[in-house]
Amino acid sequence: MRTEMWRAAHRLISHRSKNLCDPRWNPNFHNSIHNSSGFTYNFGRTCKPFNPYLIRHGSDVQKYIYPTRDYIENLHGSTEPCYGKSFRIQNRYYGSASTKIQRNPIFSTINSDDINHFREILGEKNVIQDEDRLSAANMDWMQKYKGSSKLLLQPRSTEEVSQILKYCNSRCLAVVPQGGNTGLVGGSVPVFDEVIINIGSMNNIISFDKVSGILVCEAGCILENLISFLDDQGFIMPLDLGAKGSCQIGGNISTNAGGLRLVRYGSLHGNVLGLEAVLANGTVLDMLGTLRKDNTGYDLKHLFIGSEGSLGVVTKVSILTPPKLSSVNVAFLACKDYLSCQKLLLEAKRKLGEILSAFEFIDNQSFNVVLNHLEGARNPLPPSMHNFYVLIETTGSDESYDKEKLEAFLLHSMEGGLVSDGVLAQDINQASSFWHIREGIPESIMKAGAVYKYDLSIPVEKMYDLVEEMRVRLGHSAKVMGYGHLGDSNLHLNISTPQYDDAILAQIEPFVYEWTSKHRGSISAEHGVGLMKANKIHYSKSAETVQLMGSIKKLLDPNGILNPYKVLPGSLASSS
Ligand code: FAD
Ligand code: MLT
Ligand code: ZN
Repeated sequence: MRTEMWRAAHRLISHRSKNLCDPRWNPNFHNSIHNSSGFTYNFGRTCKPFNPYLIRHGSDVQKYIYPTRDYIENLHGSTEPCYGKSFRIQNRYYGSASTKIQRNPIFSTINSDDINHFREILGEKNVIQDEDRLSAANMDWMQKYKGSSKLLLQPRSTEEVSQILKYCNSRCLAVVPQGGNTGLVGGSVPVFDEVIINIGSMNNIISFDKVSGILVCEAGCILENLISFLDDQGFIMPLDLGAKGSCQIGGNISTNAGGLRLVRYGSLHGNVLGLEAVLANGTVLDMLGTLRKDNTGYDLKHLFIGSEGSLGVVTKVSILTPPKLSSVNVAFLACKDYLSCQKLLLEAKRKLGEILSAFEFIDNQSFNVVLNHLEGARNPLPPSMHNFYVLIETTGSDESYDKEKLEAFLLHSMEGGLVSDGVLAQDINQASSFWHIREGIPESIMKAGAVYKYDLSIPVEKMYDLVEEMRVRLGHSAKVMGYGHLGDSNLHLNISTPQYDDAILAQIEPFVYEWTSKHRGSISAEHGVGLMKANKIHYSKSAETVQLMGSIKKLLDPNGILNPYKVLPGSLASSS
């Protein structure tokens, strides 16, 4: 046992934490960084930049994706208070608690006059009715939610977004703002025939101030492109996530995405300095400030951060970006139990302090799925399998100081028994391969079968109890996995089964929500509410709070055309 420990300690420390950013150490460093985000996540590209549309139609992945999901749309008579539409009920049998949703009869359906009008505003090629493109835009990344929109609009300016919304509002046409369509809660796709507005063509960088680090850009910029742009300027984005190759900054802001760096740089509520948004009636709200401090009245931009397209379309963004620091190290560690992971986090916060930039955890079951399903993944700590794995990243400005701190921390953790084995990345490729494992979990789980996905904020000390209780509840019928952003108390509870099954779903929900609520957690840590949890919001918000949200929604979007059926319970959000 003692020998094992020293072998591990030697493996961790003997190579020293060579600074992965040091060009002397890695001659390719500068070249590599040119095309990538911060060095760690992109060298050798841990998670290939992906396009959900391509993934969906890619032959490899298609075979993994569940052919059994069912959408049954029943036509039920017709009540047509606005412009006349039959109303339908949609039953979902695959997703999060079978839900029946009725198409709100207040909404009109698209006619040829509408199409002609949109063509006048946007030009022919930005009014899309092509079936292939529509089928991609109608389906979410997980292929769990599918709408039947007949129209995708691609505005190129705020003015065009404003004209679209003004018209849709006057015609009572419901819309779904869509970014990279990587959302995981069914918020980015239509439920019925809502018009899809994708602002991916609004992808210009407007300005970057090298002194303050303030970036102003259009909301359709892909996160990874912003990361690359900033890298050339010697800065980084304050957020990073596995979907960076497709997601857009407007989508990130609308979901208040968390990701892999939140432990260090905080949430978008802190980093977004301003934004421009277009309201349902076409009014353009210019809140595109670039000030760190501005206490003039209510800070309304926060309403749009995390409101998932239900209050307006975000068109421009101003964001504070931190400077890129030169010393980055990544360690992949094994822990014997969850308590050790917890203690390690506390130690990391205390001992690594300001240089800690990521603290992610992966349980044995998630790790196994990655090894079995993710191309290019291999166990960094062979031959053993451990109960838990922790990925720690440090980012600082002083190579020798950072190295000293990290080595002392690792040695101490190993001697204290918190870490049972570990390896410190010695070059960019190794660092990349560690991140490949972590960032590749969602994709691997998708390949493994049907997945019930929950994104929960739970106090760290209680977090893993839920995973264990769920295992007891489900027995052998499902694989229960826990991973996530331990540094932010954010658990990703994923339950994998060969196919979707209502009986299993009934074992999971509402138990998972009740449990989270009982422990004063949140049923959405970072993915949002979307369609999946619109009727579950009360588990995390008081009745009065939800009521006030409904009033704000009605004030800003009286006809309820913006992303209907999402975020708020149907009774509050609709105008009928
Ligand atoms: P979409 O999916 O297109 O839309 C998401 C929501 O925002 C929808 O409700 C949509 O209506 C709204 N919206 C989009 N653009 C706008 C706009 N311009 N104005 C108004 N509303 C808009 N999330 C995390 O938080 N952390 C992670 O670590 C993370 N990792 C992921 C890894 C993978 C592999 C995948 C597939 C997803 C991951 N996600 C993660 C979830 C997802 O990537 C984020 O929610 C992301 O912010 C969504 O951005 P998007 O551009 O794809 O938005
Ligand atoms: C992650 O942290 O990997 C993402 O939030 C996606 C997921 O939860 O699967
Ligand atoms: Zn996450």
